[in-house]
Amino acid sequence: MKLALDRREATLGSVDASVSGVFERSEKPDPLPRGLAKEDAAAKGLVGQAWEKREVRGRRKELTVLHRPDGRGRVVLVGLGPQTSYTVETLRRAAAEVIKGLRGKGVRTLGFRLSSFVAESVAGDVAVRAIVDGATLGSYEFLRYRTTHEAGVEEVTLHLGEELSREEAALRKALENESVVAENVLWTRDLANLPADTATPEYLAEEARRVAKEVGLKITVYDEKKLAEMHCGGLLAVGGGSAHPPRMIVLEYSGGARSGKTVALVGKGITFDSGGISIKPALSMDHMKFDKSGAVAVLGALRAAALLKVPPRVIGVMACAENLPSGSSYRPGDVVRTYNGKTIEVLNTDAEGRVVLSDALGYVVDKFHPDELIDLATLTGACVVALGDDTAALVSNDDRLAAGLLDAAGATGEPIWRMPLTDYHRELVKSDIADVRNSTEIPPAGLLTASAFLENFVGRTSWAHLDIAGPAYTVATTRKYQPAYMNIGATAFGVRLLTRYLSEPQSR
Ligand code: BES
Ligand code: ZN
Ligand code: ZN
Repeated sequence: MKLALDRREATLGSVDASVSGVFERSEKPDPLPRGLAKEDAAAKGLVGQAWEKREVRGRRKELTVLHRPDGRGRVVLVGLGPQTSYTVETLRRAAAEVIKGLRGKGVRTLGFRLSSFVAESVAGDVAVRAIVDGATLGSYEFLRYRTTHEAGVEEVTLHLGEELSREEAALRKALENESVVAENVLWTRDLANLPADTATPEYLAEEARRVAKEVGLKITVYDEKKLAEMHCGGLLAVGGGSAHPPRMIVLEYSGGARSGKTVALVGKGITFDSGGISIKPALSMDHMKFDKSGAVAVLGALRAAALLKVPPRVIGVMACAENLPSGSSYRPGDVVRTYNGKTIEVLNTDAEGRVVLSDALGYVVDKFHPDELIDLATLTGACVVALGDDTAALVSNDDRLAAGLLDAAGATGEPIWRMPLTDYHRELVKSDIADVRNSTEIPPAGLLTASAFLENFVGRTSWAHLDIAGPAYTVATTRKYQPAYMNIGATAFGVRLLTRYLSEPQSR
């Protein structure tokens, strides 16, 4: 989607449709807002009539489309709900509702009247970012396997008008910056949506090589031979049952600031999780093609970091393997030795994410001594039970890092919730015969016992774990409850929040 900024008011006729926001109206009689006077004049009084007849209520998700009698385009009014509860997230969703509502209806070029979306709670630059996000993410479709598709909006222009034209430079910067962020989310969704027949560990490595070349990152790919030399027993065990061998992919972005800190991002990249010998039930097993979402989000975040030249040095590690049952699979009862020497007793081959992460975490801590370590993983079904399918769990040993991530998540509208890790959980993952076990004797607190397991591999590093099992993808049944900027399939959850976190000045 092409995004542009125009300092003038939307001159009706220059775009197929011009969009204005409308706050929810009270029951009392109220005049047409002043901002809509020009739209009303262009539509020869039709806007005023719709207002008077209360066709326009300003409720969220409400879309009113009026055609100009002279045939020169449409006036679109989108409801924003009560002004008192209007936030950046309201606008993100509203912009996506507009894009989705107009798909297949002959609108190619769309203008947003920016001033109608700016309020005390949503400043100009914040509104620009929200519209860019909502419109771009809301336009997303995974088209690779489709032979037909309905055309939607192709060009979005943000019209500043008189009062906002003074802020043009700052608003233009916000637009340019957020366009990169949003485009990168679409790129990440496209990769995360690929099924496991295509997106094998080696395919992810090739894709990472392409990215490294495109944006200028250093890359090292460890194949199964190298992994064996490095004693990465976790990745080798989990990937052992598949014809597509495991890969550990390491990317390095050197940092925009002179003496910045080093942030390491580690992602779970299970290209398909059948459960292995501890096989999963058939129902919804197809969702497990999204079990690589953490690693793909790490690649997306590294790509954004390089494109936007964020201050810190960023290391990305993608721990990729396919978890399948076969004669060469690892089994319950096996003990594997990981990169940092710690041993894992495997009690359930379906708890494979933590097993591949053990190598990746141990490796990145040993090789790069990062100041901060953040891992992303579709790690546990227990996380989805605890927090639902829209919120990720945050577990951290560092309050400052946790606060930074919570702030970033608040700003981007990707909900995360901090959960408590205690000695109780640490006790539950101790093994009778090895250092740790990958599954516990009693089922409760699966999210936290998984976190307690991971903690064994981060040493004393400042660490945050994001369990993204819920929000990494949406399915048809839950899609309708999600914001309009989501889509069925991979959401690229975490990419915007990580990009935001890395871009903040305190990330230096
Ligand atoms: N990939 C799954 C977790 C998952 C579940 C992700 C649902 C997305 C949606 C993970 O590898 C897994 O199977 N975890 C097990 C762990 C258990 C065997 C200790 C789980 O959560 O049931
Ligand atoms: Zn599993
Ligand atoms: Zn898994």
